[in-house]
Parts: sequence; structure tokens; C-alpha cells
Amino acid sequence: MITEKQISLIKQNWNGLRGVDPVLIGDVFYRKLFLDAPALKALFKTTSEQQSIKLVEMLNVIIARLERIEELSEDIKHLAIRHVQYGTKPTHYKQVGIALIWTLKQASGSQWNAEIEEAWSTCYTLLSNTMINATKE
Ligand code: HEM
Repeated sequence: MITEKQISLIKQNWNGLRGVDPVLIGDVFYRKLFLDAPALKALFKTTSEQQSIKLVEMLNVIIARLERIEELSEDIKHLAIRHVQYGTKPTHYKQVGIALIWTLKQASGSQWNAEIEEAWSTCYTLLSNTMINATKE
């Protein structure tokens, strides 16, 4: 369950990062991910720039519709199935979540706090559980 307060914290935090170059955000994210989990490198076939832009676009879509996340369930299901094709395993979600939240924290600087971290963590867990469950059906 994600609360209205958490949704508003995520939106505020994400809005504050609007001026940051997506390529920079992506760069930090993939560096952190591949440092923690080098084996995941082999799964990514496109350029890091393309990956970065997709990462930020994806966050835009999700955040814009956080209040109505159920409406995204078909999209999330298809996304989950594509991830199985990319070679993603349920255990990878945790590592990606750690790298994502770490990246948001670095990008946010002094704007960051424990409450924001908790909100993002809830959001990511919700999303990744939805993706993992979608592939089990
Ligand atoms: C909440 C979790 C995640 C979301 C919302 C997400 C979202 C996306 C999106 C939007 C794309 C663009 C391509 C497409 O739409 O099919 C993508 C690509 C990809 N994702 Fe994810 N992803 C998530 C978790 C993961 C995890 C855990 C892994 C495992 C390492 C992963 C690995 C990949 C790979 C390998 C690609 C293809 C890019 C390439 O080949 O360069 N993703 N992801």
C-alpha cells in the first residue's frame, strides 16, 4: 500500500530533479548497478544513453499515474513479460531497486530525507511485486 502522502513526496522529489540530465541520472544508476552486480551487465544490449532515456521516461509515466497504478496493470504485465525475455530473474529486482534509490538520493542532495526514501522504496516494491507476480500467472 502506498499512501497519498508518499505519492505526493515522490512527485515533489521527482519534480525537483526535472532539470537534471536524464543521461546523467542513467549513468549514475547503471554504474552503481554494475558495480554492485557486474553479472547483470550482460543483460543490457542497447547503448547506455538509450537505457538512461528509457529509465527516466519510464519513471515519468509511472509517477504521473501513481494514484491510478491499477490502470497501468496491463502495461506493467507486458513490461514484465518483456523482462523475462531480457533474462531478468525475480532476484534481480532487489539490486535494481537499491541502485535506483541510491541514484535518486545522490541526485537529490540535501532535498533527500528518510521519509522520501521510504516513499520511493514503497513505490518500487509495489511495482516490482506487480511485475514479478505478472509473470507467474
Ligand atoms: C520496477 C522495475 C522495472 C521497471 C519499471 C523497468 C522498466 C524498463 C523499461 C521501460 C525498459 C525499456 C524497454 C521495454 O519497455 O521493454 C526496460 C528495459 C530493460 N530492463 Fe527494466 N525495468 C525494471 C526492472 C528491471 C530489472 C530488475 C532488470 C534486471 C537486471 C531489468 C533489465 C532490463 C533490461 C536488460 C532491459 C533491456 C535494455 C537493453 O537491452 O539495453 N529491468 N526496463
